[in-house]
Amino acid sequence: MGFYNKTLNRLKAMGNMKKRILTGDRPTGPLHLGHYFGSLENRVRLQDEYDCFFIVADYQFLTDHLKETEQTERNIRHVLLDWLSVGMDPGKSTFFIQSKIPEIAELTMYFSMMVTLARLQRNPTVKEEFRAARLPAMSYGFLGYPISQAADILVVRSHLVPVGEDNIAHVEQTREIARTFNGIFGEVFPVPEALAGNIPRLPGLDGYKMGKSTGNAIFLSDTPEEVRQKVNMAITDPTRIRATDKGHPDICNIYKYHYAFNKEEVPDIEKRCRQGKIGCVACKEMLVEKVNSFLEPIREKRAFFEARPLIIKEAVREGNERVLREGKETVRLVREAMHFDYKDLLEGEYSVAG
Ligand code: TRP
Repeated sequence: MGFYNKTLNRLKAMGNMKKRILTGDRPTGPLHLGHYFGSLENRVRLQDEYDCFFIVADYQFLTDHLKETEQTERNIRHVLLDWLSVGMDPGKSTFFIQSKIPEIAELTMYFSMMVTLARLQRNPTVKEEFRAARLPAMSYGFLGYPISQAADILVVRSHLVPVGEDNIAHVEQTREIARTFNGIFGEVFPVPEALAGNIPRLPGLDGYKMGKSTGNAIFLSDTPEEVRQKVNMAITDPTRIRATDKGHPDICNIYKYHYAFNKEEVPDIEKRCRQGKIGCVACKEMLVEKVNSFLEPIREKRAFFEARPLIIKEAVREGNERVLREGKETVRLVREAMHFDYKDLLEGEYSVAG
């Protein structure tokens, strides 16, 4: 018994010594291949080596979907299923929901005093997202969401943040906040580092950035037939009219996809395309096969977890609890460092005599 407990404690201590990772997604809908190569693939690989926290960022959903909140719960479930189906594992990692952790809101409040308006207005990702959202005006919460994202990362005092290229600006903002906080109040936070995915941007099927709502994405949950239809509709080399015209792989979207899904055949495809010896239809057909065989094991896992909803429920319940414990500890340290614990005023003995 003594030996057992000692061993267990040692194992736990080892677990706690692992460096921490935090990353996640907004619940705006199903995740796509862009997410996979930008981030999900990395997450799966990192789960053994690091203590991973994965957040469903539902506050961030509000930035540009304020009037669609009836979709949030369904979207959260979809994101969780996508995670499970690519091999993110709640047995190894911690899954949690942003709005269930009040400490994130508290940290956001403190941090918001440490970031200037001009700094927020310079964030290129926020600008791009605002343009894409086509909203009449930017809310305070939209402009400030990188601060809330910093709180997501720092609430568990994470060291590493695996993200797609578009989120690098937010990690930079988080680093500045951590440094500013530590500079004023003393070392509380690690200064986290970004870890960029392998292929920062797999373009959408139209050549623009792959997006959930722009109709140019292949979703991880797409059926084989949906994949075929989407790829067949995709834009290739616009200068090519006939299958026998000489192609230009460097300006072809589908070529980029071959690069991601069909690396072995890329040199051959490139040569045949340049010589006009393979047409776009045949080239696309090859890609459809590759994408579908890539997605097949993901589809199987999804079906497994879809049939077992309790697994998801349990994963999130446990994850939220763990982050709440971590968050309480972080906020305790923060309040103490900021002299916001008010020990004299609120603790110890006092009398109500008189
Ligand atoms: N902004 C991320 C996205 O665009 C989601 C996110 C929220 C996130 N909080 C995070 C990513 C913290 C990394 C770390 O999907």
